[in-house]
Amino acid sequence: MSEQSPSAASPPEPLAPTLKRIRTPHLRELKQRGERFAVLTAYEQFAAQTFDEAGIEVLLVGDSASNNVLANQNSLPVTLDELIPLTRAVARSVRRALVVADLPFGTYQASPEQAFHSAARFMKEAGAHAVKLEGGHAMTPQVRLLTDTGIPVMAHVGFTPQSEHQLGGYRVQGRGTDGQRLVDEALALEAAGAFAIVLEMVPGEVAEKVTAALRIPTIGIGAGVHCDAQVLVWQDAFGWRTDRLARFVKQYADVHGVLLDAARTYADEVRSGAFPGPEHTF
Ligand code: KIV
Repeated sequence: MSEQSPSAASPPEPLAPTLKRIRTPHLRELKQRGERFAVLTAYEQFAAQTFDEAGIEVLLVGDSASNNVLANQNSLPVTLDELIPLTRAVARSVRRALVVADLPFGTYQASPEQAFHSAARFMKEAGAHAVKLEGGHAMTPQVRLLTDTGIPVMAHVGFTPQSEHQLGGYRVQGRGTDGQRLVDEALALEAAGAFAIVLEMVPGEVAEKVTAALRIPTIGIGAGVHCDAQVLVWQDAFGWRTDRLARFVKQYADVHGVLLDAARTYADEVRSGAFPGPEHTF
């Protein structure tokens, strides 16, 4: 009998390791297995590619683009038309991460139908995999219609920046007896179909209770270590923003410092004639 050729004996090596796309059920499986996951905001191509390469499971095209990309004072002014191209860039740039697009203020609160039309634009025009919206009991009809029509929803309770004026500024939510309200809201959003819930600026022990009460994962920002996942705005976490950071932010890098040095060196070399050198010249 003739010897089998190596290619017949064993399947060829894949050219690249198989990358399994993160989908919403995976996040619930991670929670069931007691494994935490990481979420970052992303608003553009190279940040999205880099975070995806680093294995960040979920990228959120936050309405925080308003005050981290578009130079507004807060998240209120940003529009759907402004977030759609940013979401499209992020969705096109990832191979594995789940891309969640944040519904801007005024694009979903009026009715479930309004939420559907806005969310559908993110899915059709930008390639988002899911949307996020802020609010508790009042938003359950929106969550229900979106999830019934095939649009996964990440909910967001606690401090909700779009309600900054109603909440009286950036304040911790759910202190004292108000903690139970957050548990009830989170349960109602889960029952309406949300696949995950952001808990922003709530006491650690309240976040722990919410996390224990839910089958879907909680994603904390200023909500302590007992959440199933954490999210940060990347410009805060990696040191591009230079003003005072919220207490819940840990700074992992100094992107501002790196860019500042690079830009100064470049300018010096242009002025002195050190750049471009012969190796940069045709
Ligand atoms: O818009 C945003 O960036 C957010 C997160 C910080 C949760 O909502």
